[in-house]
Amino acid sequence: MTEQTPEQAPEHGIARPRLEGKTAVVTGASCGIGLAIARRLVAEGAKVCITARNIGPLKEAAAEFPEGTVLAMAGKSDDPEHRAEVLDAVAQAWGRLDILVNNAGVNPVYGPLSELDPEAARRILDVNVLGTLAWVSAVCAHEALDFRGRGGSVLNLSSVSAQTPAAGIGFYGISKAAVEQLTRTLAVELAPTVRVNALAPAVVKTQFARALYEGREEKVSSAYPLKRLGTPEDVAGAAAFLASDDAAWVTGQIINLDGGLLVAGGSA
Ligand SMILES: NC(=O)c1ccc[n+]([C@@H]2O[C@H](COP(=O)([O-])OP(=O)(O)OC[C@H]3O[C@@H](n4cnc5c(N)ncnc54)[C@H](OP(=O)(O)O)[C@@H]3O)[C@@H](O)[C@H]2O)c1
Repeated sequence: MTEQTPEQAPEHGIARPRLEGKTAVVTGASCGIGLAIARRLVAEGAKVCITARNIGPLKEAAAEFPEGTVLAMAGKSDDPEHRAEVLDAVAQAWGRLDILVNNAGVNPVYGPLSELDPEAARRILDVNVLGTLAWVSAVCAHEALDFRGRGGSVLNLSSVSAQTPAAGIGFYGISKAAVEQLTRTLAVELAPTVRVNALAPAVVKTQFARALYEGREEKVSSAYPLKRLGTPEDVAGAAAFLASDDAAWVTGQIINLDGGLLVAGGSA
């Protein structure tokens, strides 16, 4: 058998940045997991529009990226006008959208589910579930982006709290369970051109999760077989894989990122 020359060797996507030429929107990306995902997508060759409510931290985050690689658009992910502005700006700047990362998520309450304030429940559903769905709908409906025609990848942020009862944050877990079913349903509905997947992390060290580990990190991480909590970069690596053509045959999947917590019988 004769050996292949480098020119003849099959391409496995490792010779050049695997997201070169792709564009993305990452919601809730001024810090934490969203910012780490944006950094990773840009490092792999993509151009990224980052969003968050507060303009100051968003601008600060945008300033660290190489010139021409990011757009920063302040607004609420659950606001239809903001969504339209973001997508119009992406269409104008880059003419295409390949990757949507629905990362913005909230949990404004802590306590027993049976005592939950219905207003807080509505807020959680508005951002985590309806906001996520509305971004997908808006992207699919945007004529200039032609997301469905061209083909794309949607990535939603779930949580292991969708899969096990999570004391104190029960309704947040319920909202993430809805995100997981929404992910599976959209994966079937938007196939074959658009892939839809979700990442379900356990505790990742961000501002959002601080109350879950601060002052007792060693004790909390002892329940994890890998003996540490997650980092935003742990999530970003998996996000880049799912967004890329390396995951071209992956859709409708929820990938747990939990240092082995759930298989070891732990809970959120
Ligand atoms: N950290 C964890 O342990 C963990 C575990 C599982 C899942 N998750 C999920 O991962 C995602 C990111 O969490 P994180 O830990 O990175 O949180 P984070 O560090 O608190 O960052 C949240 C980001 O979202 C923005 N944001 C919040 N509400 C928004 C809204 N309504 N519209 C637009 N932007 C908004 C925030 O900026 P502004 O405040 O300026 O808007 C910030 O940029 C969430 O969906 C969360 O549920 C996190």
